[in-house]
Amino acid sequence: MRDAAPTTIYLKDYTPFGYIVDSVHLTFDLAPHATRVKSRISFRPNPEATDTTFFLHGENLRLIRASIDGAEVTPEVTGGGLFAAAPAAPFVWEAEVEIDPANNTALEGLYMSNGMYCTQCEAEGFRKITYYPDRPDVMSTFTVRINGDLPVLLSNGNPTGSGEGWAEWTDPWPKPAYLFALVAGDLLAHSDSYITRSGREVALNLWVRPGDEGKCAFGMEALKKSMKWDEDVYGREYDLDVFNIVAVDDFNMGAMENKGLNIFNSAAVLASPETSTDANFERIEAIIAHEYFHNWTGNRITCRDWFQLCLKEGLTVFRDAQFTSDVRSAPVERIRDVIDLRARQFPEDNGPLSHPVRPESFQEINNFYTATVYEKGAEVIGMLKRLVGDDGYAKALDLYFDRHDGQACTIEDWLKVFEDATGRDLGQFQRWYSQAGTPRIKVEEAWADGTYTLTLSQSTPPTPGQPQKHPQVIPVAVGLLGPNGDEVRPTEILELTEARQSFTFQGLAAKPVPSILRGFSAPVILDQDSTPAQRAFLLAHDTDPFNRWEAGRSLASDTLLKMVTQDAAPDADYLDGLLAVLRDDGLDPAYRALMLDLPSQSELAAMLHDRGVTPDPMAIWTAVETLRQATAQHMQDVLPRLHSQSQVDGPYSPDAEQSGKRALGSAALALISRQDGGAQAASEYARADNMTLQLSALSCLLKAGKGETELAAYYDQWRDDRLVMDKWFGLQVALASPDRTPQIARQLTQHADFNWKNPNRFRALMGSLAMNHAGFHHESGASYALLADWLIRLDPVNPQTTARMCSAFQTWKRYDAGRQAMIRAQLERIASAPDLSRDTTEMISRILG
Ligand code: ARG
Ligand code: ZN
Repeated sequence: MRDAAPTTIYLKDYTPFGYIVDSVHLTFDLAPHATRVKSRISFRPNPEATDTTFFLHGENLRLIRASIDGAEVTPEVTGGGLFAAAPAAPFVWEAEVEIDPANNTALEGLYMSNGMYCTQCEAEGFRKITYYPDRPDVMSTFTVRINGDLPVLLSNGNPTGSGEGWAEWTDPWPKPAYLFALVAGDLLAHSDSYITRSGREVALNLWVRPGDEGKCAFGMEALKKSMKWDEDVYGREYDLDVFNIVAVDDFNMGAMENKGLNIFNSAAVLASPETSTDANFERIEAIIAHEYFHNWTGNRITCRDWFQLCLKEGLTVFRDAQFTSDVRSAPVERIRDVIDLRARQFPEDNGPLSHPVRPESFQEINNFYTATVYEKGAEVIGMLKRLVGDDGYAKALDLYFDRHDGQACTIEDWLKVFEDATGRDLGQFQRWYSQAGTPRIKVEEAWADGTYTLTLSQSTPPTPGQPQKHPQVIPVAVGLLGPNGDEVRPTEILELTEARQSFTFQGLAAKPVPSILRGFSAPVILDQDSTPAQRAFLLAHDTDPFNRWEAGRSLASDTLLKMVTQDAAPDADYLDGLLAVLRDDGLDPAYRALMLDLPSQSELAAMLHDRGVTPDPMAIWTAVETLRQATAQHMQDVLPRLHSQSQVDGPYSPDAEQSGKRALGSAALALISRQDGGAQAASEYARADNMTLQLSALSCLLKAGKGETELAAYYDQWRDDRLVMDKWFGLQVALASPDRTPQIARQLTQHADFNWKNPNRFRALMGSLAMNHAGFHHESGASYALLADWLIRLDPVNPQTTARMCSAFQTWKRYDAGRQAMIRAQLERIASAPDLSRDTTEMISRILG
């Protein structure tokens, strides 16, 4: 059925629901095309509500019967739900509906994947299962009976009964419907157990399809580590007798924190050394932690409405990043997070899709599961912690859990616990939640009579719907270095609250070199006129590992920008500084690997655009290739030794130490391949015994225009492994040379294994196309047209994944008139597709602006 006409929902219009739900009983009679869902729900009037309309959400449901207190009723059914006349006293609502999970390709509500039933209810999927007040501030306990001829029948909470063809689950913790889950299928469990710190034993199961049993051990260890960490660091214990995780192949997102029954995209949980890269392992560990941490930040304390999404997501991302820093390397984790923030959040914050961390309106909430809500939302919490200090943060969090356990909360509630726990006024801080856009900070320096003055000015460019910006409170971590490289002032947090503000440092013997925004203390763009020599000085001496990396990074972008705009040669300060870092065996290999990384071509395009230059994707690509070639030349002598790091002693482990060595070794191999045309990579490919090395060698070969034999061998080796084949599709598109990208991508869409209805496969191909900057922006416009063709095709099947992928076009106004015209034509073509989903309609209209 076609979605109802788009309407805009506003935060300011929030009103509570007219009824409280005391209990929910559901019975499922599973059948692929005709699942029956019976509900029995106890309602009573909500004394705090003024609007007593009894409206239950419901979509794509066939209503069989409904009754109130046992008497049959005939509700008024609309496209989005039903209205019924409700008594002004407690009553029991009963209904029976029929749904068609086998035809549910949108993967929202109850659907099927490889013969297994599974659900995704966040944000508004429960209304596709039965009639219900599908809003997060309505919380209830649930009892679920599943009747079905399948060996494994799971739902939330604890098991409270089972027999041949049925199982019953009871979740004692009141929860909103978006946390409901049901799984039924022919699954195997990888089982373990965990004793909580108060001594309760929790049964742990990771459920997978037969054949995937060998890919569970790592995820299970990550789960146990997460459970322990949340007890140790946040004092949070698990609260049910069982914790189930299920892996499913068809899933729109990474994973979902349903109470006691997390459902994961297979790609976000299944891992083995032969089939997964080090980066996959690290991501899986973080996602397992993330979903587990939601048990307290999201489930026990949930969101009042979907505008408050960052309340649970920003905080939970912040917590999973803390966890990763603790179990791996803190500086490496910080640098990776900032790379990711700049790659995904900055383009969003500085383009037509810009929205506040807490949006104020939406048409389709699924379009707001964004890098801004998640990653900038986590940065905002990091700043809060920096401003109130570690103790203040700990006190505030204790108060948050004490005060709000069992409630559906707002950002105001969240900030209030910080105010109450620390006495600090957070009025200005609140702007981080309401004001969109990335603040720019300009730096001016003055030096006289032993006094050094740093003047910082902030400004945020206008964003859609917000022409005027007000100063925010920005914690700027600063340290000072003396001329010999010694630190003369340790890190201190400057609180920038005004549009322009000066900070003085007295009693210095010589003019210092400032190290500003240490640890990336705020999600801003720093605009500092440093010379290459000053940056090289920081690259050599900064004691803050993040800023040391940042110095190398900015040297790299400076030289690349000059190569693009002035036809300059690669900068010697960059190459020499990098060489010194690579030679320094005292530095963590993972950190050195990050030093070898370059800003992305899309990031360089944004920098050019910021400086008033229209970016030419081919010129950027050429500059990067030239700099890489020069780097390979300049580093020639150290490369073999760095590369040898990837051969570690002992069995493979995805831990930080080994994966760091492989990261450095792989970065070195990429440079070596520029010198030897891929000869060494070919032999590395032949002897690789784990996916990290196999993929790194294959990448080098593809970059060198080789690898045809290896691609075929890889296909033969892995054709039956879905996740490994996603990499095969993705890599070929990601590494295609710009001139051949549209053609290679198009050919792969015709491949028999391009199962485009599977979100992972679709994203592997189309996501890589969008990420191959010069190839996507091919002057013919062929890549734009290819992506648009496929978005139009996917939309009726899976609106959510289609809408997300539209963001590939969000940066279109950076480019030249010719490219803009071609992209506009594609956006308009998508917009005019018949029956376009609400999801995609909203995205395209926002991108068009
Ligand atoms: N809450 C999930 C997570 O971040 C994401 C689910 C989003 N799903 C969606 N359809 N928008 O862990
Ligand atoms: Zn989350």
